[in-house]
Amino acid sequence: MSVSDVDRRDELLTAARSRGATVAFVQMGDPSLSLELTRLADLGVADITLVGVDLGPLAPAHSWLRRIAGHWWRERAGARPVVNVASRLVTSLPDLEVALTDRKPISGAEPGLTSAAWEDVTGHRRQVLVCRGPRCTARGGEETMRALILGLMEAGLGDHDVLVTHTGCQFPCNQAPVVSVQPDDVWYGDVDPAAATAIVREHLVDGTPLSRNRLPR
Ligand code: FES
Repeated sequence: MSVSDVDRRDELLTAARSRGATVAFVQMGDPSLSLELTRLADLGVADITLVGVDLGPLAPAHSWLRRIAGHWWRERAGARPVVNVASRLVTSLPDLEVALTDRKPISGAEPGLTSAAWEDVTGHRRQVLVCRGPRCTARGGEETMRALILGLMEAGLGDHDVLVTHTGCQFPCNQAPVVSVQPDDVWYGDVDPAAATAIVREHLVDGTPLSRNRLPR
């Protein structure tokens, strides 16, 4: 469900394979849930059960699983399998079997992927780009992201103040983990959780970019 779960792909694949299942992602991972549903349906699989797994922080609401599956159901041109969704989100892999005991089928009447609340660009003053490319992720990008989000929450800054965006490689990989702040054009390297917290406090709240961790431009 979350970007952090993409980082734990191998763990998820092992757990899935041992149960004769496959893995799909609702964001930033490959295959997407829609592509995997199409692949299974094209193979003639008649009965699919989706179990949402959230091993990391900041997953979208569980309801998104039904929304995405419902959208796929409505758009599916060929034969449609029965698609069930487990009623509870799994936060620990040993709980996978327990989740299967309570599931509800997709009917196609689920809410869609759009909402009036998501029509406009937010009025954010700054956009923080957190690198989740391979080098930054291997060198602590997940912890950096977590500290950044928690710091913003503690400071009371929401999407209308600071928009946080995960990105692929931003190029100065040697400086990983990398975070950049736009439109300030301020780039930071070696952003560990302490540095992320300081970026929130000094740059995003007080408006003064940190001199430490700042990369030359
Ligand atoms: S992977 Fe982060 S800058 Fe390249």
